[in-house]
Order: sequence, then structure tokens, then C-alpha cells
Amino acid sequence: MNKLIILNHKLNLNYDELNNYIEKINEIDTNNDIIICPSYLYLESFKNKCKFKIGSQNISNKIEGNFTGEVSAKQLNNLGIKYSLVGHSERRKYYYEDDLINEKVLNCLRNNIIPIICVGESLEDKENGDLEVKINNQISQAILGIDDEIKKEIIIAYEPIWAIGSGITPEIKEIEYVINYIYDVINLYKLKPIILYGGSVNKENINKILSINNINGVLIGSISSKIDEIKEIINETN
Ligand code: PGA
Repeated sequence: MNKLIILNHKLNLNYDELNNYIEKINEIDTNNDIIICPSYLYLESFKNKCKFKIGSQNISNKIEGNFTGEVSAKQLNNLGIKYSLVGHSERRKYYYEDDLINEKVLNCLRNNIIPIICVGESLEDKENGDLEVKINNQISQAILGIDDEIKKEIIIAYEPIWAIGSGITPEIKEIEYVINYIYDVINLYKLKPIILYGGSVNKENINKILSINNINGVLIGSISSKIDEIKEIINETN
């Protein structure tokens, strides 16, 4: 079955690298679905020139008005963008967004954007045996108020904070356990999400992770803006 591979560029890729990146990423021939989340600056260029799907890395909890520096779900939808990351751990940690996640998710769904909701425990949570509580809380808070009217597709990315950018990943059976746990939580809300794993995915581990039962794909972070490396990783999955 096709898998979903999301590329989160974070604060990487300069304008003078943009055309080369798009040209080369377009050379990839894969049966998997790819969603590229570049900087806001390049959304339109990617949208117009890249053959893969495009998403935003973040989205405002506001829809319009006097909110300097924000980009709304309404604006993204109007540009033809269909996906947005919501609640990435870097947003939660550096921009204190925990309390905004639910509004962001609802704004996405009301404006035809599929939210890619990121959840994950810290090392401290894991060591204290709080993994399930943390994941349960993050998911329950994020999806609060999704009623039948806006009940659409959602994507959940399980990203243990300690695995992001560290080169360390959980054991395969640990990832499988959490993915199944997320299904259990989400089933209570009668939602059918796509569930991904993210955190230090590389060319050595991607196929093992993609072969986990029930997993629908992966989210790849900082390495995804390095065109030669990301081509190698995606080609590895064919
Ligand atoms: P990483 O990041 O692939 O650099 O570990 C994943 C992420 O932040 O989504």
C-alpha cells in the first residue's frame, strides 16, 4: 500500500536554492504520496512548480483581522494549500502554543485544510511512565469540538520529542505500541486518522518503520531540505 511521506523543511532552504530543490525533487519517481512543507515564503513557488502535494508548517489560530505576522487557514485554502502541520513540538516548546492547538485544528477543518497534528512525549514523560497520559491529553485537546459537520480527514504524527533531530529513534516495537495506542484513543471519537511516525527517520531505518503494522507513513524533518539526501531516502522506499 502507498505510504505518506511528509517533508518538514523547518527554517531551512534559502531562496537561491529553491529552483534547484524543486527541479530535483520533481525527478523522484515514487508510488508513495509526498507532502512538502516549506517555509511560507515558498508555498506559492512549490504550489506552482512542484509535482507533489504542498503543506504549511504552521497556521494561525485566527482567521482574519489585526494579527500581525499570522497566516490563516482561510488564506492557505485560498492559495490552494490543503495541509498544515499543527502543534509541532518546536511550536509548542519555543512559541508556547499548547493552548492554541485546538483552535488551529478547528480552523483547518472549517477551511478545507487537513491538519497534521503532531503529538509526542518528552524523555521525562517517558521515564516517568507518563507516555500514554501525554499522548492521550494532546490528542483529546487537539480534537475537541470536531463535530460531524467538520469531521473530515485528519493526520496524526507521533513524534517523540527526544527523537526529533537526535539521531535516536524508539525501538520498532515501541513505535508500534504507540501507534496502536493512538488508534485506541482516536476510535473513541469515531475519527479515522492517517497515522505517521516522525523523529530521526533516515535511509537506514525508513523501511523498517514503514513496515510497522498500521503505520501509514513518516514525517521527515531537517534532512528533508537537503535535496540529495532526501532523494536517497525516498528512493530507498521504492
Ligand atoms: P527530524 O525531525 O527528522 O529532524 O528528527 C522530525 C520533525 O521535527 O518533524
